[in-house]
Amino acid sequence: MRVIETVSDMQADIPQNERAVVMTMGALHDGHATLMDRAREIAGADGQVLVSVFVNPTQFGAGEDYDRYPRTWEADLAVCAAHGVDAVFAPTADDLYSAGTDIMVDPGPLGTVLEGAVRPGHFRGVLTVVAKLLHTMQPSAALFGEKDYQQLVLIRRMAEQLNFPVAVVGVPTVRDGDGVALSSRNAYLSDDERRTAGVIPRATEAGRAAAAAGATPDEIVASVQEILTAEADEVDYVVVTGPDLGPAPDRGAARLILAARVGSPRLLDNVPLTLAAP
Ligand code: PAJ
Repeated sequence: MRVIETVSDMQADIPQNERAVVMTMGALHDGHATLMDRAREIAGADGQVLVSVFVNPTQFGAGEDYDRYPRTWEADLAVCAAHGVDAVFAPTADDLYSAGTDIMVDPGPLGTVLEGAVRPGHFRGVLTVVAKLLHTMQPSAALFGEKDYQQLVLIRRMAEQLNFPVAVVGVPTVRDGDGVALSSRNAYLSDDERRTAGVIPRATEAGRAAAAAGATPDEIVASVQEILTAEADEVDYVVVTGPDLGPAPDRGAARLILAARVGSPRLLDNVPLTLAAP
């Protein structure tokens, strides 16, 4: 008989083949496909790669795009098949939420800033569905994109603070040739708006260069704001934070995070920074 004294030893004791999961809302693109390929590396040839496709109603606010979110089921299946996915989990909302929605995951203070301030309740819905999908799919690893940086940080914290036996793996943002981050919502952009969206990677690159040249977080934010406001229709926020979304450090690793509207669609982006203040 074994006596197990720590949480990590207890979790390591649960027998499990490698099962790596990629959670998506469909409308799959090369960003999602990159997560699938990374999942295969983690699971190995003998492990399982699972993808969920589920447009989660609880993370959309009233008046948001739940009804018109792009749904491309046949093409999504083809992407999953082409990337060697073992199983696609695509429940209906009635099925996944059949037991009710009165118990939900509270994201805490980090759920009310940045995207959480613009979209109240959004991260409560995200963490709730991620918790439900983790419990349903039982992966050893779950992969999420850095593209949605606040989401990644919150999911990692949930897994840590609620002792979920899963490795949360972040994957760097996959971009188009002009540097614009791939996103299912880019489908909402007209050709003109798509060209204008190129201002976002230009702004983040300028922010990165300013940081390397010794600019302070305030100076970096000001220079990024200036570039964005010249072309974007509205800038929701530009911030420099620590890697865990806490206050920016005096020097070293930090994150530049922004949201801006080009036409009516809102675009999110973020990049790692190295603050080189003298
Ligand atoms: P969705 O927007 O479909 O994104 C699914 C996953 O793909 C997320 O982890 C997201 O960060 C990642 N992703 C999207 N675009 C990416 C890109 N250009 N490069 C790298 N990764 C990218 O995020 C969601 O769905 C939902 O909130 C979900 C976590 C599935 C919960 O409903």
